[in-house]
Amino acid sequence: MVRNLISIAVVALTTAISVFAQQTEEQRVESLLQQMTLQEKIGQLNQLSVGGFDQNTAGMMRSGLVGSILNECNPKVLNRYQKAAVEESRLGIPLIISRDVIHGFKTMFPIPLGLAATFDPELVQQGARISAVEATASGIRWTFSPMLDIARDPRWGRIAEGSGEDTYLDTQMGVAMVKGYQGEVIDQTSMAACVKHFVAYGAAEGGRDYNSTGVSERTLRNVYLPPFEACVKAGAMTLMTSFNDNDGIPSTGNGFLVNDVLRGEWGFEGFVVSDWASISEMINHGYAENNKHAGELAFNAGVDMDMMSYSYISHLEELLNEGKVSMEAIDNAVRSILRVKFRLGLFENPYIDEDKVESAFYSAEALEAARKSAVESAVLLTNNGVLPLDKSKVKTVLVTGPMADAPHDQLGTWTFDGDPAHTVTPLKAIKQLYGNDVKVIYEPGLTYSREFNDDGIAKAVKAAKKADVILAFMGEEAILSGEAHSLVDITLKGDQRKMIEALHATGKPVVLNIMAGRQLVLDHEVAHSDAILYSFHPGTMGGPAIAQLIFGDETPSGKTPVTFPKHVGQVPLYYNHNMTGRPANGREEMLHEIPLRAGQTSLGMTSYWLDCPFAPEFPFGYGLTYTTFEYGATAVGAAEVGTDGVLKVKATLKNTGKKEATEVVQLYVRDLVGSVTRPVRELKGFQRVTLAPGESREVVFELDIQDLAFYGKDMVKKVEPGKFQVWIAGDSASGVLAEFEVK
Ligand code: BGC
Repeated sequence: MVRNLISIAVVALTTAISVFAQQTEEQRVESLLQQMTLQEKIGQLNQLSVGGFDQNTAGMMRSGLVGSILNECNPKVLNRYQKAAVEESRLGIPLIISRDVIHGFKTMFPIPLGLAATFDPELVQQGARISAVEATASGIRWTFSPMLDIARDPRWGRIAEGSGEDTYLDTQMGVAMVKGYQGEVIDQTSMAACVKHFVAYGAAEGGRDYNSTGVSERTLRNVYLPPFEACVKAGAMTLMTSFNDNDGIPSTGNGFLVNDVLRGEWGFEGFVVSDWASISEMINHGYAENNKHAGELAFNAGVDMDMMSYSYISHLEELLNEGKVSMEAIDNAVRSILRVKFRLGLFENPYIDEDKVESAFYSAEALEAARKSAVESAVLLTNNGVLPLDKSKVKTVLVTGPMADAPHDQLGTWTFDGDPAHTVTPLKAIKQLYGNDVKVIYEPGLTYSREFNDDGIAKAVKAAKKADVILAFMGEEAILSGEAHSLVDITLKGDQRKMIEALHATGKPVVLNIMAGRQLVLDHEVAHSDAILYSFHPGTMGGPAIAQLIFGDETPSGKTPVTFPKHVGQVPLYYNHNMTGRPANGREEMLHEIPLRAGQTSLGMTSYWLDCPFAPEFPFGYGLTYTTFEYGATAVGAAEVGTDGVLKVKATLKNTGKKEATEVVQLYVRDLVGSVTRPVRELKGFQRVTLAPGESREVVFELDIQDLAFYGKDMVKKVEPGKFQVWIAGDSASGVLAEFEVK
């Protein structure tokens, strides 16, 4: 009896606690909001960059005038600031501490463009989880990642930070990162994600960073917005507006995008932060008269937090008094920020345990995940059979090139915290892992990627004569890509081409490994090497990954997440373009073939360049491995399917070579006739399939017909019935198609 009573009481109590816990977040937000002064509310909307501890900033925190800080990550300093906010301010609202943890905190993973080449969202999620564990140990509870900007132009330096040119792949990678950062359950290792940059920032004209964009609403909705929507649905807690003006409206002042689409259509409940000073930069855009006006525009567009424009903290009260912004909107902005702070448990656990910080870094698990990510992100672009190296035949290798031993540069852009002392370079890894099997000669030739150095090249060539194989590590230093680091020439810099040519002229096999922040133009390299393994910037464990791939202890499985042009003049060049009325057909006359003073020939009247083929060097989705795969014809489960149906699409994949390997099998669809022109192909699915030599497997995709919906002529998202083509293929330019009809 007593026992029963006790258990009833326990049940009642737990129910009460859980009801309280369920209601608690919104209730806590409301009750705190009721106690806040206007200044304290505006303070929550203010984000400051800090470096080191200073009393002025701490004073602002004590007065409740700062909601978030960025850029500081010394745990002692952070704890002091947090104490000012939590223990020395009137209401004790904790700061949310943020940082750009883009592809790792201490353990650096490949740059996001490299991660996209893995086509392995699970692995990417695991990497993001590891980054969160490392960063949250240092108090970072909010990262400005993932960057979801679709990028079709490799001149743009920030292409390194995203997942490339494809909406579907970008979506899978973005969602994986959001889940990884925030964790399946929210605890002290959860780091709020910030999807950015909203929106179309990657379409910067001319590939010049921060430049204007001119993306139509339809293309925004069909190409640029879906990754954001998917990440919002996956629970991303925050979003950042972009620097660019699109079709004349700076994103930070674009209420249609933030209020209408993000909040209205997608129901986003998190908060929106501006990019760095992107509120006050609306003055430069010629869109705002002054910082006050800029604040009014941004705030009314739905931007909750001001990163480094000092606009809200200086002018919002005045704007309220003048009736230019509403109290209701201020309250809502504060609510959305407090909600995230409560959700992250910052009120319960505002401080960093300084004794545990270091032990969170560079764990064996983290380093192994980074190595695996670097293995999977490497794309084998060419191979005449030289790779993998045969240890029984190769006695001496020359390790050369500016990236062979560049511990800082192989980490890539956005490496604030990753320590180069932990980097394992290819040189180090080759010596460590294979130094007993082969003799390793090291002669860098060039010491950095932009160097011009004939003597260095001569030394490398001399050393090459003593080697059986040349392993040349070329590419771009980290500083040549990333924010504000755009280029017009995307070929290898400095004397690298000259050096490759000289090495090739020795007659020794040349294996090129390229580490870069973007896809480069590689026509010259293709012509002067025996194999090219493209690693992007592979991170802390790039060395072992590349060494194991070269020596055959790992097999390549990466696929290009972007189209590699033959010439920079081809860009923007992307696989999922619309069809012109005069598509090139491969019979065009090139410049040198045109007879002198001839009249126009009928062959040339298609969409092409006179002085460059229209095809890319390597298409999207492309990558070789150490075996060969054969694809059978694509087959569909039914010739007709309803708009709400699911269509089975299958093809047989066979490993026809001699090694076990993993193939990224891709599903592409084309909508043949639309109310608006449609892309020639669109990726709609992929699977990583591992097969032993001789093994075949039927690879099946379940294509949800609703995934074929798009914004057509009437700007309503729907599936338009009609005929479709579908391919299961190893890249975006191959495959045997099947057809089906949506009724
Ligand atoms: C970048 C953002 C970044 C922010 C904070 C800006 O310059 O565009 O991507 O998150 O700085 O560091």
